[in-house]
Amino acid sequence: MQIAQKVAIVTGGGGGIGGALAERLAAEGARVVVSDLDDASAQSVADRITATSPGAAIAVGADASDTAQIESLISAAESEFGPVDLYFANAGVAAGSNLESDESVWDLALDVNLRAHIRAARLLVPGWVERGEGYFVSTASAAGLLTQIGSAPYSVTKHAAVGFAEWLSVTYGDQGVRVSCLCPMGVNTKLLTDDAALSATAARAVTSAGTVLEPAEVAECALAAVEAEQFLILPHPEVLEMYRHKGADYDRWIRGMRRYQAALLAQSS
Ligand SMILES: NC(=O)c1ccc[n+]([C@@H]2O[C@H](COP(=O)([O-])OP(=O)(O)OC[C@H]3O[C@@H](n4cnc5c(N)ncnc54)[C@H](O)[C@@H]3O)[C@@H](O)[C@H]2O)c1
Repeated sequence: MQIAQKVAIVTGGGGGIGGALAERLAAEGARVVVSDLDDASAQSVADRITATSPGAAIAVGADASDTAQIESLISAAESEFGPVDLYFANAGVAAGSNLESDESVWDLALDVNLRAHIRAARLLVPGWVERGEGYFVSTASAAGLLTQIGSAPYSVTKHAAVGFAEWLSVTYGDQGVRVSCLCPMGVNTKLLTDDAALSATAARAVTSAGTVLEPAEVAECALAAVEAEQFLILPHPEVLEMYRHKGADYDRWIRGMRRYQAALLAQSS
């Protein structure tokens, strides 16, 4: 899908990958609704965009996992810019660790990393089918194709996000609905660098596995893939090789992941 002149919503747009996606969308001529749970961060990204592209962005504070708030977000986009062409379900949380993560942590991860996508798609897809066009971009993670050492909720919910994006594409692709699934490894954002987000082991598992990219590099790669209408977006191309190894011999891959985890734990003891 050509991005110029389109109307896009980016959740989790107040910084990190979402902020970079919003800025890049506007640079390519889209009109963008920057949304985040943190209103002030969304506003500062929108202000940065409008400083160079007047009128190209607005900020809307919203919880991307709440149906009523997603409805208001879509209404705000429609009244400011017109029908929504692209929805970037990008907000995410790196909550949790291993089996000790309690139910509230699982609920948060399931709500933000998975149900937010389902709830937005339920609101948008019928209109897209009617118009014969629309684009859903899911920010999952390489953890959704491989695993996330040190976080069961993150690993499981990101797998589920990949599964939902695949299903959406298979089910509605012939009716004009395009879907992409963004699966980076390490990206230099709060989610990776804040101690309060991923555990130290989980963060080290990511940073030791490959290059940590800047959000702007990920946004550039993601938007090129959207223009080309590619489903799987891998800013770290080596993830494809890892995923092939997993599919080719699951047991060998699991043994390798156990060895990798043991090496990480040995480093921290
Ligand atoms: N940083 C990485 O290494 C990495 C790797 C793979 C995938 N991801 C994914 O990329 C996405 C963006 O994360 P990031 O790395 O830019 O981190 P980030 O912490 O900088 O950005 C996440 C944003 O989401 C917002 N947010 C959290 N819960 C929300 C909610 N309920 N409603 C609306 N906004 C909410 C936060 O306020 C924050 O601004 C996430 O889905 C994350 O899982 C990140």
